[in-house]
Amino acid sequence: MTALPKNDKNIDILRQKVLRWYDAHRRSLPWRALPGQTPNPYHVWLSEIMLQQTVVNAVIPYFLKFTEQWPTVHDLAAAPQDDVMHAWAGLGYYARARNLHKCARIVSEEHGGTFPNTIEELKKLPGIGDYTAAAIAAIAFDKPATVIDGNIERVVSRYYAIEQPLPKGKKDIKAKTELWCENRTDHPGDFAQALMDIGAGVCIPKAPRCGLCPLQSGCTAYKAGTPETFPRRQPKKQKPQKHGYIYWITDPDGNLLAQKRPEKGMLGSMTGLPTSEWLPADEKPTHPDFLKPLSPKPLDESISHSFTHFDLKLSGHLITLPDTQSMLFPDDFFWIAKKDILKTGWPTLFKKFVKLLEA
Ligand code: ADE
Ligand code: SF4
Repeated sequence: MTALPKNDKNIDILRQKVLRWYDAHRRSLPWRALPGQTPNPYHVWLSEIMLQQTVVNAVIPYFLKFTEQWPTVHDLAAAPQDDVMHAWAGLGYYARARNLHKCARIVSEEHGGTFPNTIEELKKLPGIGDYTAAAIAAIAFDKPATVIDGNIERVVSRYYAIEQPLPKGKKDIKAKTELWCENRTDHPGDFAQALMDIGAGVCIPKAPRCGLCPLQSGCTAYKAGTPETFPRRQPKKQKPQKHGYIYWITDPDGNLLAQKRPEKGMLGSMTGLPTSEWLPADEKPTHPDFLKPLSPKPLDESISHSFTHFDLKLSGHLITLPDTQSMLFPDDFFWIAKKDILKTGWPTLFKKFVKLLEA
């Protein structure tokens, strides 16, 4: 038998406090099992993919829509890709939706609809990395796992007053979180979700409510009186600015030209409006060759959108065609009937332009 680390007892106590807090204060969320119920791994997986880069309140309506439209992983696997992309529109990070669909097909066809229950097997599936595998293993299957999301990062960095700024400091935070989680078999799923809820409602970024916190008695930043200053962060570099043109191309009936975007690249596989290339601020955009003969007319309307790695501004241009038939567009372009323009699943960038032009 290996000797237990000497702080093991303290961690047992910490876990008990956190779990007791969770029994009384857990958020009720549509993908969560109620106390005593067995979690539905399909719900846990779907929610964790949606929650990867999106906040809980934004995810809830999408989670409800997906589970209504596709109640099981087999239903999602059988859906056409375009339907899944359309339903995902507005959530952002569209590679998640393509991988979600691929993953559903693999689970449905190769695993008989049963999600694997180990971190190692989960990580072999598309769209499931370290975080998501740990979260699913813990929450769906109650396997010991170290789960670290942004909320948990904040809680742990404060508890230990970790000085190393993010992103480098992630390593230190992980080492400390492992102390709390590794090989702990007492309700690993509840423990992970409890830390998430403490981060979301108690150990909040500004003015944390330490008086309500089950971790207060051991919390270093609380004792120092400086919880808000954690996690430390490296100052961010300014994002690069890009710009280009976006086109509103209609026929005399108001039908609108759209594009199914290439699978690789920004907003891959989503429905978009035609745009020029997106160029750095010091380069002048040009109209795509196939639009040049149509003399796009500059509009006053433009849209701005911030992606993870750059900010984009697209200036509106108008093309009104005399008729639809006479023009040949590249294969990935298609017409949307006027009555369907507002119903189409546009990524937020395009939705902004649609709202300006089709109010
Ligand atoms: N963020 C990521 N996963 C979550 C979950 N299961 N509950 C609440 N917030 C989360
Ligand atoms: Fe966060 Fe305060 Fe709790 Fe420490 S005591 S974990 S700073 S809420």
